[in-house]
Amino acid sequence: MRLFKTVLEMSAFSKKARLNGKSIGLVPTMGYLHEGHLSLVKASIDSSDLTVVSIFVNPVQFGKNEDLAKYPRNMKRDLALLKKAGVDVVFAPEVSEMYPNGYITYVSPQGGLEGLLEGEIRPGHFRGVMTVVAKLLNITEPDKAFFGQKDAQQCLIIKKLVRDLNFKAEILILPTVREADGLAKSSRNSYLDAKERVTAPAIYKALQIAQQMINLGERNPAVVIAGMRRLIGCEKNIKIEYAVITDPETLQPVSSIDGRVLALVAARVGKTRLIDNILIDRKVGSHHRRKNAKTHV
Ligand code: PAJ
Repeated sequence: MRLFKTVLEMSAFSKKARLNGKSIGLVPTMGYLHEGHLSLVKASIDSSDLTVVSIFVNPVQFGKNEDLAKYPRNMKRDLALLKKAGVDVVFAPEVSEMYPNGYITYVSPQGGLEGLLEGEIRPGHFRGVMTVVAKLLNITEPDKAFFGQKDAQQCLIIKKLVRDLNFKAEILILPTVREADGLAKSSRNSYLDAKERVTAPAIYKALQIAQQMINLGERNPAVVIAGMRRLIGCEKNIKIEYAVITDPETLQPVSSIDGRVLALVAARVGKTRLIDNILIDRKVGSHHRRKNAKTHV
């Protein structure tokens, strides 16, 4: 496994690989890797000749009062995991390599998605994500780039970036990897103390409640959201930032649940901010199941 710290080395590697007809898969990360990241790595290895994993804690996507300084890092462990997984190249530049003195160019979303949900709570966050992903796509020139559904809004914004700026890479979205109790794997789970770790799965349980209510025929998003809030409300150390039922593409709230919807939750468990979501496909005939369910009760 090669480790590149400069843009020049990374670009030269990709250029040569492409000249040799090799396909490249890119997995962008901020490190402190877990099985969620590794599922993306595996998908890339399975479908590309060469896999590049970037490890870069991108300062531009963190707000002033966010956790940039204390964001967990463990390069040694990450490199060992990636080597074991069979990764070809790790690109781990310093901040000064990605944003040298005099750096002035940013890619920002305009309209639509950026003012909603994560974008509303974390102003400038998606500008940072889009800028770094655009840079990584240019530096590594992948055929495919892999992202996790766990960050649903990020996925939508990156798909727009690639479409709007004509990047060549195909964007692939992989399912959320969870702990046994349902908690979505996240580098930020390491902030949770033992008590918080016990209550944190309530976020996923709330998403499951939403799924169950919809499967049983509930069509009113307000009722479903109330159910989600009630479940999380039972936990003293969890504060909801948002719990919504939206259109999966626009992330706009739906007025009635008639097709596929995305249920999203952001919450603070103690001081730790966690997000999660699930795609809910209203099952045809689920209304009848509800009637049946009632007669059986
Ligand atoms: P990071 O949080 O390190 O996540 C890197 C990738 O792993 C993202 O595509 C994210 O959605 C995915 N991921 C995280 N947890 C996951 C889980 N439990 N299951 C499946 N995939 C998961 O997201 C970022 O970094 C950054 O914003 C980045 C895209 C690298 C730009 O800086």
